Amino acid sequence: MTRRRDAILREMGLAPLWRLRGVAEEPAVEAPPPALPIEAPPARPPEAVRPPVAASAPVRRALPAVAEAPVLPAVAPPPRVAPAADLANLGWDALEARILGCEGCVLCQRRKQAVPGVGDRQADWLFVGEGPGAEEDERGEPFVGQAGRLLDAMLAAIGLQRGHDVYIANAVKCRPPNNRTPEADELAACFPYLRRQIELIQPRLIVALGRPAAQALLNQEVKISAARGKTFRYGDIPVVVTYHPAYLLRNQPDKAKAWEDLCFARKTMRALRDEA
Ligand code: URA
Repeated sequence: MTRRRDAILREMGLAPLWRLRGVAEEPAVEAPPPALPIEAPPARPPEAVRPPVAASAPVRRALPAVAEAPVLPAVAPPPRVAPAADLANLGWDALEARILGCEGCVLCQRRKQAVPGVGDRQADWLFVGEGPGAEEDERGEPFVGQAGRLLDAMLAAIGLQRGHDVYIANAVKCRPPNNRTPEADELAACFPYLRRQIELIQPRLIVALGRPAAQALLNQEVKISAARGKTFRYGDIPVVVTYHPAYLLRNQPDKAKAWEDLCFARKTMRALRDEA
């Protein structure tokens, strides 16, 4: 059965792609075959509307008194929060322009460019990641680095392709320095953009990739290992969670679980389409 599962993964292009470059090939996984998708528990009621969150101001330190004070570089102005209500009527172009010029949190200070999102703007599938990395910051497109190549393989595993009935966005639109996890206030400050993207796309299903994305969407603490195989809700839209591709690159044995999660997402989407 394990051999059969491996053969399926290989056929789907997953086995060779789900491997870190330069990392020795891991021994054959002796995990049990992927379980059949688990039935989802009853959907949760829509989450409460998030209150607007003030972005944290940059820290200003008192300068020691000196006889001749050196000329200091200008202090960056305090970040400006894009009020959520402001976005309510924006179309795609205006929304993306707002994202590109956003100074709503400290992440704007070290980005090369903001990364709004990419794909089919009328997609049934919305995949939400954490935040841009170095290559995304450089190119202005989400998931174009190593994690992105893995995401593309994951999409292919369930018959999907970037840009075709799929939209890809991030919970925060600017690269966190050194690829650190976005802070809660940064996620909250950026959330109105994701909310407007969801309003415009109206996806049938959202797949949250990793904990920050799940927490931003569900407005609650989420542990991926506990949340897998369940259906949550963002308003009326079902949300399923799985591991972030970058996590899978570091924790290869969990790719079998991600495979199960993708099968669960595909089954959920089929049921949604049958219902419609
Ligand atoms: N990781 C993410 O969460 N998003 C990207 O766009 C790239 C890497």
